[in-house]
Amino acid sequence: MVASLANDFGQLRGDVRNYLDCERRLLIGGEWVPASSGATFPVIDPSSGKEIARVAEAGAADVDAAVAAARKAFEDPAWRGMAPEARERLLWRLADLVEQNADELGQIETVDNGMLGFVARNLNVMGAAGAIRSIGGWSSKIFGKTADIVAPFPGAECFGYTVKEPVGVVGAIIPWNVPLMLASWKLAPALAAGCTVVLKPAEQTPLSALRLGELAVEAGFPPGVINIVTGYGETAGAALVEHPAVDKISFTGSTVTGKLINRAATETVKRVTLELGGKSPTIVFDDADIETAIGGAADSIFFNAGQVCVAGSRLYVQRRRFDEVVSGVADHANRLRLGAGLDPESQLGPLVSHDQQQRVSGYIRVGTEEGAEVIAGGKPVDADGYYVPPTVLVNTKPTSTVVQEEIFGPVLVAMPFDDIDEVVAQANSTIYGLAATVWSNNLSTVHRIVRRLRCGKVSVNTGGFPHATLPEGGFKQSGFGRDLGYESVLGYLENKSVLIRLQ
Ligand code: NAI
Ligand code: MG
Repeated sequence: MVASLANDFGQLRGDVRNYLDCERRLLIGGEWVPASSGATFPVIDPSSGKEIARVAEAGAADVDAAVAAARKAFEDPAWRGMAPEARERLLWRLADLVEQNADELGQIETVDNGMLGFVARNLNVMGAAGAIRSIGGWSSKIFGKTADIVAPFPGAECFGYTVKEPVGVVGAIIPWNVPLMLASWKLAPALAAGCTVVLKPAEQTPLSALRLGELAVEAGFPPGVINIVTGYGETAGAALVEHPAVDKISFTGSTVTGKLINRAATETVKRVTLELGGKSPTIVFDDADIETAIGGAADSIFFNAGQVCVAGSRLYVQRRRFDEVVSGVADHANRLRLGAGLDPESQLGPLVSHDQQQRVSGYIRVGTEEGAEVIAGGKPVDADGYYVPPTVLVNTKPTSTVVQEEIFGPVLVAMPFDDIDEVVAQANSTIYGLAATVWSNNLSTVHRIVRRLRCGKVSVNTGGFPHATLPEGGFKQSGFGRDLGYESVLGYLENKSVLIRLQ
């Protein structure tokens, strides 16, 4: 079976076709407006490299208007005074609408990002709905603490308590790899906490966030609570980070850009959450259920063409089973059918952009120049779309570029290890600390290694899929702060202490 390499737009739903045909605008203060400069930029289908839509290109003036709208909405009793249960219901209504429009949102995401249809619908869109619903539930469960206080002077009976208050206006800047889901990971906790938001999706994938904005208007969020500005990072993104009326920046993306943002945010002492790059290890001990581990290791790096922050991009296998596991993963790679996301036969889609295709192919080249051996993939794909074949490299050194740097494509480096001390040292030897996966049936080995891995999430005997109740985020240069779970909501709350003397 061969999958088609370019999307067949004849398969598009009518509503998606209409959505693409109409120039998309910015959502500011509840209105859909063009950029004040009139500028627009193209949306490209990664399976063909063709332009499929145009969206407004926000500049600093538009960001300023969006922040003003968010500020106004934050001060407005319609939002500030809303009962937490009403906020919760709004978020649940939005989750329902996302779910009801899953087929449409899924197709929009597939032609924008390139991802496979079932991933777009069932993980990205349904994952977004699940996160909005689960995190929305925290709206009504935000509490402070109480303290009995004996005053440091006689006769004063005191009482103290803490309240949690929303940080204010949030600038949310997200990447292009799982666009709708990552939009929900920022919006849901910020709104549950009572903040207002200016969301800037990635310039490569603006469409699903704008459709989410329409659904938010339909759900009944007051104007200005959710604003969406599409535009480039260096202009719209930077204007948001520098804006004095923005209280917090929540960012997901590359470590390089995260550092820039963190530096810029210092100027106005913004609160910052950074979910950055990763180079996550998959660790297979020789007592593991090897067949399952092979499939898990392959999925962990080839899922979404490796464009996943927690992708298992380094495979460490205990020496006795190394050849077996690595050839199993290479076979898996060779069997994957490359193809466009709208074709249900496709098993691996294109990368998001020409830039990413060049960057990932460049890494494969550097890897071989540094002495790695290619045992699967490696060769360019003859197609107009931005394909990179699933690739497995062996014979790398621990210091090799391909072992140390985030590639963000379907490229795996595989290395043998002898014992737990060695693999812990190797696993922890990059600047990153986002996630890890461990395959072993030895309970003691599992518990020992879980504690020693310096990263924000460890999955055991399963691939590391996200769940709305489990926080995601990094140690080390993978960032700080958390998405998902109650921890994500805490990131959008200030603490206020109150001391009262009883007279
Ligand atoms: P990026 O980190 O530059 O872009 C992510 C978001 O940040 C986009 O919305 C972009 O417009 C915005 N941005 C860029 N520069 C900005 C600035 N100066 N101020 C404010 N916002 C800014 O990622 P990029 O360049 O698209 O991808 C490059 C590499 O980053 C990838 O190859 C991959 O290694 C890594 N990456 C990692 C992700 C993760 O989730 N860990 C997600 C996306 C990219
Ligand atoms: Mg960039």
